[in-house]
Amino acid sequence: MNKSDVVKLILGERLYYLPNHLSANAFAPTNIALCKYWGKRDQELNLPVTSSLSISLGNKGATTEVSITEQTQDIALLNGEPVNLFSNFGKRLIAFLDLFRAERALHFKIDTQTTIPLAAGLASSACGFAALVLALNKLFHWQLDAQHLSILARLGSGSACRSIWSGFVEWNRGIDADGMDSYGSIIPEVWPELCVGLLIINRNEKNISSREAMQRTIDTSVLYPLWPEKVNHDLSAVKKAIHEKDFLLLGKTAESNALTMHGIMLSAWPPISYFLPETVAAMQKIWELRQQGVALYFTQDAGPNLKLLFLSSDAELVKSHFSSLEIISPFGV
Ligand code: PMV
Repeated sequence: MNKSDVVKLILGERLYYLPNHLSANAFAPTNIALCKYWGKRDQELNLPVTSSLSISLGNKGATTEVSITEQTQDIALLNGEPVNLFSNFGKRLIAFLDLFRAERALHFKIDTQTTIPLAAGLASSACGFAALVLALNKLFHWQLDAQHLSILARLGSGSACRSIWSGFVEWNRGIDADGMDSYGSIIPEVWPELCVGLLIINRNEKNISSREAMQRTIDTSVLYPLWPEKVNHDLSAVKKAIHEKDFLLLGKTAESNALTMHGIMLSAWPPISYFLPETVAAMQKIWELRQQGVALYFTQDAGPNLKLLFLSSDAELVKSHFSSLEIISPFGV
């Protein structure tokens, strides 16, 4: 089964609908995994080895406007700058849009504005593909439900399937070969005091894509077989922590989950490291503060930046130690 088969399965004759409006736009938040997705069981469909769980970052994300252009090729703008359609990202975008042309000479104009740094492990492809799918759904008036929108977003980037929702989201790995049971669903809990701090260490693009890094980890790390069991354990703990608003359990589990993922990557060959010296220095500072009794934890994705986890009652204290920190309240309080 390939991506096009899945799109046909979901859209049926809607794939041939004409645009219902001149343009449509949609916002999708970026999401940070508290229990990570690392490794695919199907590379084509972005089907994961394990389930994962994330928190969406409120109004931090991507707003995408999509329209049909008279030009003879697609046009993509990212924060006002033209996207090079021959770059890796450009090619990925075109291949994704190809799924929705249905043998027609349709060309799209995609205009995306983001409120987060691009690449650098801040899940910009997640909110980008989710916003694009939501905008296409409006443009063609497909009227898909969130489950199917999540599956379409997953075809663009795995973690995008969680960006269809705000708040806490679980991506169930599913077991079906076509991935129709692998999508994000909301966990209906709010935690107004929960804060996420973006500690930007480097804004440059990552030197190895998560796609390549995941595959290399699976192919070469002797530790990878331990990962699914670790995720099972951490998923239950994170869900319990969310349910009981047990911040220490949440922080500890999220940090340990991220460090295990990075530890497994270090054991791949050639080794994969997303650490910069400043990343490690920031971790040590967090561990020191914790020893002094501050309830502060972190998580890290496929880039050198850290996402700090703490409660609003500690926000001022945390900010006094990390002056450049951008503090986000995912539940908007
Ligand atoms: O969806 P991708 O291919 O960008 O991979 C995301 C991988 C991590 O951000 C490291 C983990 C996650 O669950 O978001």
